[in-house]
Amino acid sequence: TGMAQADQPLTGKHVLITAGGTREYLDPVRYLGNESSGKMGVALATVARDLGAQVTLIKTASVHETMPTDIKILTAVTTAELAQVVKQEFVTSDVVIMAAAVADYRPVTTATQKLKKTDGTNHLTVDLVKNEDILQYLGSYKTHQVVVGFAAETNDLLANATNKLVKKQVDMLVANDVSQVGIGFGSNENAVTLLQPGREPIQLVQASKEQIAHGILTNIVPLLN
Ligand code: CTP
Ligand code: CA
Repeated sequence: TGMAQADQPLTGKHVLITAGGTREYLDPVRYLGNESSGKMGVALATVARDLGAQVTLIKTASVHETMPTDIKILTAVTTAELAQVVKQEFVTSDVVIMAAAVADYRPVTTATQKLKKTDGTNHLTVDLVKNEDILQYLGSYKTHQVVVGFAAETNDLLANATNKLVKKQVDMLVANDVSQVGIGFGSNENAVTLLQPGREPIQLVQASKEQIAHGILTNIVPLLN
């Protein structure tokens, strides 16, 4: 720990960030995945470091960004792996930001060998089971930690995101309208609304993901003691 200076308000704080999309395997070479590039999580890690924090970034296999220096980097591929690493790092964290796009479901079984096509039928049905909600776990088990989630929505942004804020008992939810072009998944810019329990929403207008990350992190600072 050290004295936080005005330009490094996160000095002495441990900030845990997840980035990218999780994968759920059907067989050794095939998976269900999503479009997350991890850019927002990487921007958060970079800016948190610049604001003085000790940063741990857990990245998934879908992240191909250049990694920032002077941070701890861990990897996870599946949602189960991500859950395990997040829980392990959670205890010593002051802030946790779940920027990862976590798969909601995984195949009930993963074949140990590459699946073959079957003759005589044109349909294949895959049985899926719900994954653990990592953010909801963090919301219910947090002690001193500031827990922050993301919500990517294509419709009814504020209503859907407010439901998640309440249901997952988080301190801040970053609501992201992914129906707009030029922001969100894969792009270099973003525009978000910060939701906090009992507070008016805070709009962060379209800007680079680093500028958005700066806006998110400076709004987290007053939540720390
Ligand atoms: N999240 C998580 N574990 C899951 C699913 C989501 O930790 N199994 C986290 C995400 O990292 C994000 C937040 O929860 O910070 C919201 O994710 P989102 O997909 O928007 O919400 P869901 O609760 O999964 O609801 P839905 O996909 O049905 O809108
Ligand atoms: Ca989801």
